[in-house]
Amino acid sequence: MADALIEARDVGRTYLQGGSPVAAVRSATFRLQEGDRVALIGRSGSGKTTLLHLMAGLDRPSSGAIRWPALGGADTLLPAKIALVFQVPSLLDPLTVAENVALPLILSGAGGDVRQAVLHALATFALEELADKLPEELSGGQVQRVAMARAIVGRPSLILADEPTGQLDRATGRALLDALLGHLAGSATALVLATHDPAVAERMAATWQLRDGVLATGSPP
Ligand SMILES: Nc1ncnc2c1ncn2[C@@H]1O[C@H](COP(=O)(O)OP(=O)(O)OP(=O)(O)O)[C@@H](O)[C@H]1O
Ligand SMILES: [Mg+2]
Repeated sequence: MADALIEARDVGRTYLQGGSPVAAVRSATFRLQEGDRVALIGRSGSGKTTLLHLMAGLDRPSSGAIRWPALGGADTLLPAKIALVFQVPSLLDPLTVAENVALPLILSGAGGDVRQAVLHALATFALEELADKLPEELSGGQVQRVAMARAIVGRPSLILADEPTGQLDRATGRALLDALLGHLAGSATALVLATHDPAVAERMAATWQLRDGVLATGSPP
C-alpha cells in the first residue's frame, strides 16, 4: 500500500482565549490515503477549520502527532502538495482572477505552461469570462469558485476545502461539486471537504464527524 498522505494520532489543538484554554480539537486519530474523498461534518465550533489547518501543516498540534509520510515535512506542503481552500475569502485584491489562480504555480516555481494550466482550471469551473476581473467585481459565490480553481491548478496530492459551498444556493453548490468531483474522477488526488450540508456530504465516499473536537472516522485507525 502506498504511504499515507496523512497519519495523525491523538492530535489535539488548544487555543488561549483571554488566557483561558479552549480545546478546539481534542482527539483526532486518522489516516488519509491517496484518492480518499472525505466529508468533514460537525456543528459550528466543533473544530473543522482547526483540523483542516492542522492537516495542511498551517497550524501545529498542542498534543499528539501528525505526519505526512508520502508528502514530507509540515513546512513543505502548501501550496504545491496540499491546496487549502479557506472558509473566508482569500483572493488577493490587487490581482485579477487569472493571476490569483496562477499564484500556487508561481509560488511553487512549477515548470510548464502556466497560462494553459490557469485556463484549464478556470474552464473546469466555468470561469473563463471572469479571467480579467478583480475580486471586488465578483459575487461571493464566484469568489468561492475562483478559490476552487486555484486549488486544483497545481494538481496537488490533497485538496482541503473548508465549506466551499457555504455561500452558494443548492443548485450552484451542486454544480461546483459536480465540476470538482468530475475533475478529480479517477485521480489520486485526495479531497477533504468540510460541510454543513448533508447533500454535499452524501457525495463523498466517507464521512468523518467532529463532536466538540473529538473526531469519529467510522473506521478503525
Ligand atoms: N484563532 C483562534 N483563537 C482562539 N480560539 C479559536 C481560534 N480559532 C478557533 N477557535 C475556537 O476553536 C473552536 C473550534 O473552531 P473552528 O473554527 O475550528 O470550528 P468549525 O467547526 O470550523 O466552525 P464553523 O462551522 O463555524 O466554521 C471554537 O470554539 C472557536 O471559538
Ligand atoms: Mg470553520
